[in-house]
Amino acid sequence: MIQNFRTLDDADVRGKRVLLRVDLNVPMENGKVADATRIERVLPTIREIADKGGKVVLLAHFGRPKGGPDAANSLRPVAAAVSELLGRPVGFAADCIGDAAASAISAMKDGEVLLLENTRFHKGEEKNEPAFVAELAKLGDFYVNDAFSAAHRAHASTEGVARLLPACAGRAMQAELDALTLALGAPIRPVAAIVGGAKVSTKLDLLGNLMERVDTLIIGGGMANTFLFAQGKNVGKSLCEKELADTARSILGAAQTARCRILLPVDATVAKEFKAHAASRFVDVDHVAEDEMILDIGPKSILAVEEALVNAKTLVWNGPFGAFELPPFDAATMQIAKMATLLTRDGKLKSVAGGGDTVSALNAAGVADQFTYVSTAGGAFLEWMEGKALPGVEALRTK
Ligand code: 3PG
Ligand code: MG
Repeated sequence: MIQNFRTLDDADVRGKRVLLRVDLNVPMENGKVADATRIERVLPTIREIADKGGKVVLLAHFGRPKGGPDAANSLRPVAAAVSELLGRPVGFAADCIGDAAASAISAMKDGEVLLLENTRFHKGEEKNEPAFVAELAKLGDFYVNDAFSAAHRAHASTEGVARLLPACAGRAMQAELDALTLALGAPIRPVAAIVGGAKVSTKLDLLGNLMERVDTLIIGGGMANTFLFAQGKNVGKSLCEKELADTARSILGAAQTARCRILLPVDATVAKEFKAHAASRFVDVDHVAEDEMILDIGPKSILAVEEALVNAKTLVWNGPFGAFELPPFDAATMQIAKMATLLTRDGKLKSVAGGGDTVSALNAAGVADQFTYVSTAGGAFLEWMEGKALPGVEALRTK
């Protein structure tokens, strides 16, 4: 389905050293992988290349080291986790360039898998330095990128190497690009978008791009308060970027011009304290008291969102509705997520979600696997929703 990208269908990897960029930036707890989703997503690509007789050389970053080796950011424990999930041995080389990498690769047989140490242990990675790119490129005959979630970085292992070696998208990258096309590239209309999260200031580009592309834009989370305030409502002690009231008003005006319907909350769940199980009440957004804060949308607003979903054929979701980490202020996010999965199950809705908090919220609701597609990307998903070109994706485009 994806156009203008080479995939593994077009690649002959037999006997080749294949540099496979994956995103192994997984959460760790006490030295163990706490959420293996990103690893699981790339297993099919690893297997396919190995089974076609390629030597799979995994390239990945981990954490944000300061351009030199540091034990806390070593990928060594991740190699063990990849091996366990893959059900095959995965070798490890203590450096991603130089002798350590070259000798480990030259000892590989066709079909074997090797993980190279954190690419960010070299300053050249994030700077995309030609000399470092060349060091990486000489380790491989072919490059495959399966790391959509790191594709917003123009780094050596995500962008530079793709320009030096013959390159294609891996299966996870392909699935991601397909899902994004389904959601915003060439979606079935009407399209609804949910944008939540705390701050309008971090989502200005997102809102600007979405209103040109979707039919209904549903605004939730703390950022909705700024819009309510801009419309002259009292938001009490709620999180609110008052200095952005003008911006919020011009967004509403621009949406009208773009014929995009904006759905703001009409009622809210409010409390006097920001903590789990704080005493709360439902109130219309016109009657929030001075000492109250809005921590979730209320039941009337939930109904309105559900109606919008029933009328949509495609949903793209970024950001939770309320303070979802503090029950009961997760209620709207949970209820609406369940509604989206029911419509998806019945074939009435294509549902695509992404962004760090969104995925945690959908996981907490136990529904992430019932969406049409849930991206594992945070920043990359956001930048893609903003309509920005992602360097790691652009480098794979066929000219
Ligand atoms: C992520 O976890 O968002 C990606 O792996 C990219 O990591 P970064 O934000 O440190 O570049
Ligand atoms: Mg990030």
